[in-house]
Amino acid sequence: MINVEKYFMPDLKKARKRLTKETETILYELNPKYADLGKGKTYHILTYGCQGNNADSEVMAGIFEQLGFKFIEDETKADVVLLNTCAIRENAENRIWGVLGNLKAPKRVNPEMIVGICGCMPQEEKVVDRLLNKYKEIDLVFGTHNIHKLPEFLYEIYRHHDKVVEVLSVEGSIVEKLPKQRASSHKAWVNIMYGCDEFCTYCIVPYTRGKERSRSKEDIIAEVSCLVKNGYKEITLLGQNVNAYGKDLESDYTFGDLLVDLDKTGIERIRYTTSHPKDLDDKTIMAMANCKSVMPQLHLPVQSGDDTVLKRMNRKYTFEEYMEKITKLKKYIPGISISTDIIVAFPGETEEQFQNTLKLVDEVMYEGAFTFIYSPREGTPAATYPNPLTEAEKHDRLNRLNEKINAGYLKGHERFLGQTVKVLVDGVSKNNPDLLTGYSEHNKVVNFIPKNALPGDIVNVRITEAKTWFMNGEQVD
Ligand code: SAH
Ligand code: SF4
Ligand code: F3S
Repeated sequence: MINVEKYFMPDLKKARKRLTKETETILYELNPKYADLGKGKTYHILTYGCQGNNADSEVMAGIFEQLGFKFIEDETKADVVLLNTCAIRENAENRIWGVLGNLKAPKRVNPEMIVGICGCMPQEEKVVDRLLNKYKEIDLVFGTHNIHKLPEFLYEIYRHHDKVVEVLSVEGSIVEKLPKQRASSHKAWVNIMYGCDEFCTYCIVPYTRGKERSRSKEDIIAEVSCLVKNGYKEITLLGQNVNAYGKDLESDYTFGDLLVDLDKTGIERIRYTTSHPKDLDDKTIMAMANCKSVMPQLHLPVQSGDDTVLKRMNRKYTFEEYMEKITKLKKYIPGISISTDIIVAFPGETEEQFQNTLKLVDEVMYEGAFTFIYSPREGTPAATYPNPLTEAEKHDRLNRLNEKINAGYLKGHERFLGQTVKVLVDGVSKNNPDLLTGYSEHNKVVNFIPKNALPGDIVNVRITEAKTWFMNGEQVD
């Protein structure tokens, strides 16, 4: 049995507590004693989950590079491999257990290999227990609150040839001046806030990510200005509920104000995710309408179209209130493309309540959605609610919903047939090396016959074909 005394272990109950003390801002600085830690060594990060995790992985990659590690494509050959994990649903977690199992063989071949796990999964007690008892080959376990301590963790492992386990169940701080190795040279994630205080009854995120805390507008604007200077074309502002930006700061500066200020930096495209419908205000809608760089696209998770279910989910809005916001968005941002997240088979959801979700999908005319079967998360309130539906009934609801959603994807593409749209080029299409691919302003995938475009260019493309998952076209200039 492993002696857990020397480890910092997670505690979901503690994670739920929110103290009113001010958020601490830490300035990251590399301790010179770690500077050569990675000399001659390689790293690989496997990333799962939301954009927040992708942004965190870019920070960890930045730290590895700073320590002298080099990226290696084949994770089974890496000296250090990190799994940045997601705990949102059971199937997300099962996938990670599978990947961990697959790493056992390369670790046997190279016992010096360091296998680390971080992100949201280790923030759960049951996960760390299982890791310590069943996955002996794991060398490093840390969570979402201490990625800036990666150099120290690696140093300890190399020095003591022992495991490091440090998972903090705290409200969280803000760490600035972190290095970043961004995956793209023209599109960037920009965290504007961390954590979540919503406590939707099904959701683990407020426990794994700590309390809502906003970065200062000065730090955000400086980061975006620097990206503009370095040739970046598009930013996606990140937070679990970006519409709550600034509520924890001592000023009345809100998300709408931030959009207006970021528009002035000269960045070509601004997107943001995710919005909570309850906090989406008029100022934000008007900023979207008036700022050229804010793209005519919004992901506005609704979760359910039924008031009783919404209440039991603790979403704090009704069908009608949601529709009011949709109507306003469509009025002020003509042609806006709206997508959403929906959970089916939330505990106790009746057929009639599910029908209300289908009704809502028809009314909003979503052009995309992530749809999920409810998955119980230990420690959250809904995990204790009775859920009498069979697996077959749950899947049937998901299928009926997806049929409608997929029709929405197609319609969202068909409306651009014959039109010319602006595409930010990502690179060569995976399925056809003669085509380039990128995203339109409305966030649609466009594959096209190029003339002279390069990745990072914004070009005009005439749409010639609309499919469910993408559009085809040809570059016009
Ligand atoms: N902060 C975002 C969502 C983050 S999680 C928001 O509130 O919009 C992404 C999506 O996962 C959620 O919108 C929800 O649809 C889904 N989700 C979260 N917890 C879930 C659970 N326990 N079971 C199934 N889906 C879940
Ligand atoms: Fe989860 Fe709700 Fe927070 Fe989104 S707003 S992260 S669904 S608790
Ligand atoms: Fe998953 Fe954590 Fe994001 S649970 S969705 S990686 S915040």
